[in-house]
Amino acid sequence: MNITTYLSEQRILVEKAMNRYMLKADEPFTEHIDAMRYSLFAGGKRVRPILCLAAGAAIDQSPATHENLLPVSCALECIHTYSLIHDDLPAMDDDDLRRGKPTSHVLYGEAGAILAGDGLLTYAFDLLSDENNGTLRPESRLKIVNLIAKASGSLGMVGGQALDIANENKEFPFETLKTIHRNKTGALITCAVLAGAIGADATPVQLEKLKIYGDNIGLAFQIVDDLLNATATTEQLGKAAGSDAERGKATYPAYFGIDKTRDLAKEAVDRAIDALADFDSNAEPLRKLASYIYTRSN
Ligand code: IPE
Ligand code: IPE
Ligand code: MG
Ligand code: MG
Repeated sequence: MNITTYLSEQRILVEKAMNRYMLKADEPFTEHIDAMRYSLFAGGKRVRPILCLAAGAAIDQSPATHENLLPVSCALECIHTYSLIHDDLPAMDDDDLRRGKPTSHVLYGEAGAILAGDGLLTYAFDLLSDENNGTLRPESRLKIVNLIAKASGSLGMVGGQALDIANENKEFPFETLKTIHRNKTGALITCAVLAGAIGADATPVQLEKLKIYGDNIGLAFQIVDDLLNATATTEQLGKAAGSDAERGKATYPAYFGIDKTRDLAKEAVDRAIDALADFDSNAEPLRKLASYIYTRSN
């Protein structure tokens, strides 16, 4: 299986579904919905939706499961995109480039960007909870909604973002750094994997293994984001390189230096792949995705 081909095929599937499920700009909310669509369709690797679909397919390859997970995947991308819009605001990381394009507040103003984020976050839960979207059993749907709410909320992504901001230009202990990364980025990634697996009726044992997989690739994902911020160019990333050091962010390279950081990312990816030892060849995309998270260049 070629990961580059796989990723581009999956990205096309996800974006088709996003086109199908996303609100269309309509009077009197045209500009607001345009702002939501601008950031959502600005590009992006679509890693969380792809992980959700891949986790589902590792458990059950049926077209019905795939179809049920498409709206879930879109909801995850809406939440992720909202988090990026708010992350880039002047009051947070104050970035004016994202996905190779001007950030939301540059084009729509701060109020417009805040509301675009609010709109995307709320619409995600509309998509997830609407029983017309797919044929998930009500218990599975409720589990997925609750899982995603917890992961994106104050004991997950939002909490991680709050700690990230609170620790700018501070001496931070390793525990704090790990907590920031596990929450601001890891929580939504783990939940993308678990949501896919729940939608495919995974067993409790499978869910336990996939949680270890998700936690480790989630941590690795943010460690590599830190590494790229320190080592890649703005053109390569489509977002400002070098900004973490400028803002005094709590990052792995700041704590460990580049080489040790690279080793720690690789160790996390290896632990993720090990957690899949009992899965068959249908989990090959998950294994390859874990390696990709380490080797990616943007
Ligand atoms: C960037 O996420 C922000 C983090 C949580 C590290 P991605 O690297 O997935 O960004 P896109 O979606 O591809 O733009
Ligand atoms: C982003 O973290 C985490 C979320 C948006 C939840 P960063 O601030 O480190 O990510 P980039 O580098 O701006 O994409
Ligand atoms: Mg940030
Ligand atoms: Mg940022």
